[in-house]
Amino acid sequence: MRAARFHSYGAPGVLVVEDAPEPQAGEGSVRIKVHATSVNPIDVLLRAGHLAPFLPLTLPAVPGRDAVGVVDEVGAGVTDAHVGDTVFGLGGISDTTAEFAVLTAWSTVPEGWSTAQAAAAGLASATAAAVIDALGDLNGKTFLIEGASGAVGSAAAAFALAAGATVIGTGRESNHPYLESLGVLATAYGPGLAERVAALAPGGVDAALHSAPSDSLPDLLSIVGDTSQVVTVIDDQGAQQLGLRKIDARNDSALLRYAAALGREGLYTPRVDREFSLADIVEAHTLAENASGKVVVLQP
Ligand SMILES: NC(=O)c1ccc[n+]([C@@H]2O[C@H](COP(=O)([O-])OP(=O)(O)OC[C@H]3O[C@@H](n4cnc5c(N)ncnc54)[C@H](OP(=O)(O)O)[C@@H]3O)[C@@H](O)[C@H]2O)c1
Repeated sequence: MRAARFHSYGAPGVLVVEDAPEPQAGEGSVRIKVHATSVNPIDVLLRAGHLAPFLPLTLPAVPGRDAVGVVDEVGAGVTDAHVGDTVFGLGGISDTTAEFAVLTAWSTVPEGWSTAQAAAAGLASATAAAVIDALGDLNGKTFLIEGASGAVGSAAAAFALAAGATVIGTGRESNHPYLESLGVLATAYGPGLAERVAALAPGGVDAALHSAPSDSLPDLLSIVGDTSQVVTVIDDQGAQQLGLRKIDARNDSALLRYAAALGREGLYTPRVDREFSLADIVEAHTLAENASGKVVVLQP
């Protein structure tokens, strides 16, 4: 099969499109003929070698954590997927930017989503759904998201709004119209966050998510004042120091089905900013690591 691969860690230029062995569906998994995959921050970190001490890859490696496509092999024990189903979901830590990929968590794709939107939903929606699950009932609460304009943050905003929360979200100014289109009260990130949030939420903030590469976790905790109601998806060390939870995506189909159900109701539309073809994988990774916005890679 044709796949994007890298034979050594490094800058986006290490990526090549070449022939690679086809994976097979194992027990509890499905193989899909991939239509598209997204580029997540973890793909960039893995390719660059920044995670090699903790998450070493077998090289050459195929990048990509999520994908959408059509099931063409069903592993033993799988009863909720059939050959021909169009599904989006999660592979392993890498391996999806290829003609075929094996998924261990998946959901059928809502009719209203484009291929690119379904590709963008996998890791982002599983992470955001795990966050909502961890925070409990947000109905009637005020929820602050640092990084609301991002893939994870915008999914969490949609899920919290659907649950009945008021959502305040940070993002760069050019992303404020997008946030407002979701129903989020938009504000800037950076110094003065507590004052800006207090002006938007005079009654206080009940819960917060840290889903941006910023050092604002202590500020979020002082705004909310309750370690059980502030979570990060990034900062392991900060979470430990402050005594709050770091939440990770799980390869759990229930999280993806939850996101898809909201997609069917028109309450969650995955964010996509740029689409590339597989042949332009170097450009796709270059943009993903240098610019704001979600990048999707379409198979030929
Ligand atoms: N634990 C897990 O399982 C898991 C899973 C997925 C992702 N993550 C992590 O979660 C984070 C978000 O992922 P994503 O896919 O949503 O990334 P993304 O789409 O690139 O979003 C990044 C967000 O951070 C904001 N941002 C950028 N620089 C900032 C700064 N200096 N201060 C405050 N905000 C800033 C961006 O705002 P603008 O674009 O508006 O500037 C955007 O809202 C990443 O660090 C990723 O590694 C963790």
